[in-house]
This record gives sequence, C-alpha cells and structure tokens, in this order.
Amino acid sequence: MTRIQIPRGTQDIMPGTVELWQYVEARARDLSRRYNYQEIRTPLFESTELFQRGVGETTDIVEKEMYSVSNPRSDDALTLRPEGTAGVVRAYVEHKLYGQPNQPVKVYYLGPMFRHERPQAGRYRQFVQFGVEAIGSSDPAIDAEVIALAMRFYQEMGLTGLSVELNSVGTLEDRARHREHLLAHLNGVRSELCADCQSRIDRNPLRVLDCKNEKCRTLTKDAPSILDYLSDESAAHFEAVKGYLSALNIPYTVNPRLVRGLDYYTLTAFEIKMAEIGAVETLCGGGRYNGLVAELGGEDMPGIGFALSIERLLLALAKQGVQLPVSGGIDCFVAIQTPDAKQEAFILVDELRRAGVSADLDYLDRKMKAQFKQADRLGAAYTAIIGEAELANGTVVLKEMATGEQQEVKRDQVAAVLAERLAARA
Ligand code: HAM
Repeated sequence: MTRIQIPRGTQDIMPGTVELWQYVEARARDLSRRYNYQEIRTPLFESTELFQRGVGETTDIVEKEMYSVSNPRSDDALTLRPEGTAGVVRAYVEHKLYGQPNQPVKVYYLGPMFRHERPQAGRYRQFVQFGVEAIGSSDPAIDAEVIALAMRFYQEMGLTGLSVELNSVGTLEDRARHREHLLAHLNGVRSELCADCQSRIDRNPLRVLDCKNEKCRTLTKDAPSILDYLSDESAAHFEAVKGYLSALNIPYTVNPRLVRGLDYYTLTAFEIKMAEIGAVETLCGGGRYNGLVAELGGEDMPGIGFALSIERLLLALAKQGVQLPVSGGIDCFVAIQTPDAKQEAFILVDELRRAGVSADLDYLDRKMKAQFKQADRLGAAYTAIIGEAELANGTVVLKEMATGEQQEVKRDQVAAVLAERLAARA
C-alpha cells in the first residue's frame, strides 16, 4: 500500500515539540487574563459570505486563499476561517454584545486558521493564531493597549530586537480624499508597475504602496502619503496612539506605506517585525476596523485587534536561540525488580498519579538495566524500586536520578515523600 502523506503546508506537532506549544499557549492565556481579555471560541468554518464581506472581495485571502468546504447534501457555502476577526465580529453581532453593560468587549482566541498560500518558512496552509479584539471603544489608549499586549507577549517569551511599524490608513473619508491624488500618481507610472499592482490600482490603490517588488517601490516612492490626507480628528487619534506607546516605552517607527492585506482597517494599522526570520519577517499584524461591525449587520461600533501565529513565534525563538523553560520529564518511574512486584508497582503508580505525581512503569518486561534506561529516556526525576526485600518489609527504594542518591522509604509514605520533594524543587 502507498503511504498517505500529510497535506502540503501543514504540520504534525509531535510529542517533544508539543510542549513548546503548550507553554506558549499557556503564556498567551495568562497574558490575556492579566489584560482582562476573555476567551472566545468561534467555529472553524463560517459562511463564505462572512469573509467576502468582512475581509474584502479584492484581498488575496478572499480571491486566492480560501478553502471552501461543501457537502453534497447541503448547498450552504462555507469556508474554513482564514482569520479570526470576521468570526469574532459575527459572534459579537449575533450575541448582541454591543448591548451588554460591560464595555468595551475584550476577547482573545487561540486556534487554527486556513489559507491556501505557497508554503515556505513561517508560511503554512494551517497555522495557529493568537489574537485579541477589543470592540466598543474609539479611545486611542486601547489601540496602544492592544499593541502593548502583543509586544509584552514577545518580550515575555524572550524575543529581542522587535519593532512596531505603525501607520494610520485613515477613515473612509480620509481615504477618498487621498485616493484621487494617489490615482493620479499611480496612473502616471501604471505601465511600469508589476501585473499585481496594475490590477490593484482600480480596485484598492492603497495596496500598491505595500508591494514588495523593488521596481514598484521605486516608482511609488513619491506617491502622496495617506498621512497627509488625515482629517484633524484622525491625525489627533494617530498622535495620541503614538503618545501612549511612548509612555509605555514601546519603540515604534511610522511607516506611511504600511497597508494591511485585509480591507477592514481604518485609522491605526500596525505590524510587529523581527530583523530576519527566513522569508517572512512579520510576526504580528493588526489595527482598527471601525466600520466592520456595521458592515456585518451590527450597530456602528469601533473595534481594534491583532493576530500573530504561534508558528512564526517559534521560528523567531529558534532563530534567536531562545530556550523556553519546558520540561517534558515525568516525576517518577517505578522499576520492578522481580515479577512478583509487578502488581505492587502497578498499585503504587496509581497512588502516585492520584497524589499529583506523574508516574509510569515498564510494560515490556524489561530487565532492571533496561528499566533504568527507560527511566532516563522518560526524563524521570526519581525512580522507585520494588524488589523481593522491599516487598517483604513493606518499603520502596527511592533513587534521585540527578544525584544517584538512594533512600529507603516506607511503602505507605512514598506518595507523600515524593509530593513533598517535588514541591520543594518547583
Ligand atoms: P494577518 O496579517 O493576515 O491579520 O495575520 C496576522 C498574523 O498571522 C501574521 O502576522 C502572521 O503572524 C500570521 N500568519 C498569517 N498567515 C500565516 C501563514 N500562512 N502561516 C503562518 N502564519 C501566518 C489577520 O489575520 C487579522 N485578523 C489580524 C487582526 C485582528 N486585525 C485586527 N484584529
């Protein structure tokens, strides 16, 4: 039979690596709790129209990257979520969260997203995003809170050398004023731009400024900047966000060309970058989406959020050589010196587990030497040995693996002694 392989752009997260994931996910949850963001879990698939309307018809995500799913018995058009914001806003509208007294609504999510992209380092077809959304406040302080939350997350993980790139993409009115001048410039160089940019000029001209192609960048170097077309109110919002970031000592650079790849952004847009992580250097992206709640059928409520992928975080940590404090080892391996001790060992393991001690024993009839090897492989902190003598006098020999020190302990006290020693080590 031929082997069936994993789909391109996806990965198995195997024991030995999954501990890193569990660690960062636990830290993300803890950080969210400290910032008072509560978890929200929305479906992995939503109606396709949600993303068409929410993310935008002319975005790469909607045009090229969605995995649409169907079932022959139903004509629902459904799509695996390519991002989390649209689903969160749909749930916010559906559950009428704009009407609850506790405002703004602050939620986080941690889960897989799906995009049909060309797989490469840091770019997968299924990836896990940690994201937050704060809906219901226009206060620039909350823009800074959201950016700070992402930066503190990376800092707490031990990453260094990160920078926030910040821009304001204005309101729809600001953009309409800018558009006319931008189009005049872009039409002047239209024939020299790359094919992607040429097709973007009419549909979403701001995106042309974000093209990575060197020639396009040179041709648009002097294109009018959106920052020069902000209304007084939009400009004041941008200044206030910068002020709050400075107050928290969060370094940022203003990048007037930063335009995110999703259509819902208004005013604040930002990305967090690291000097170099393979082909992809953006670790995190986010911004304000003041029209999105209304676009999806809710009251006109402002919102802001970000998302980052755990894949890119782990890649960045590996690049910087940061070791996360994860230990995969068990607390105690119970070694069986004589077949007669098997049942007693089996009972002891159960007792230890109930006392909160992680424990295991041999299931392959290994000799003592091989059992010790197994204890080492499992990273056991202690090995408890039960032989003829111990069975006879109701004891167990407890060996601390790091020091080799051995001690005879009364059988009925093993769990308590181990729990105490392990607590002292923690
Ligand atoms: P996004 O820029 O499309 O924004 O994605 C955010 C982050 O998800 C990226 O910075 C990157 O870390 C990660 N990411 C995206 N695509 C991939 C991929 N193919 N493989 C691995 N990681 C990836 C959004 O998704 C918005 N929903 C963010 C947001 C929330 N804006 C407001 N609220």
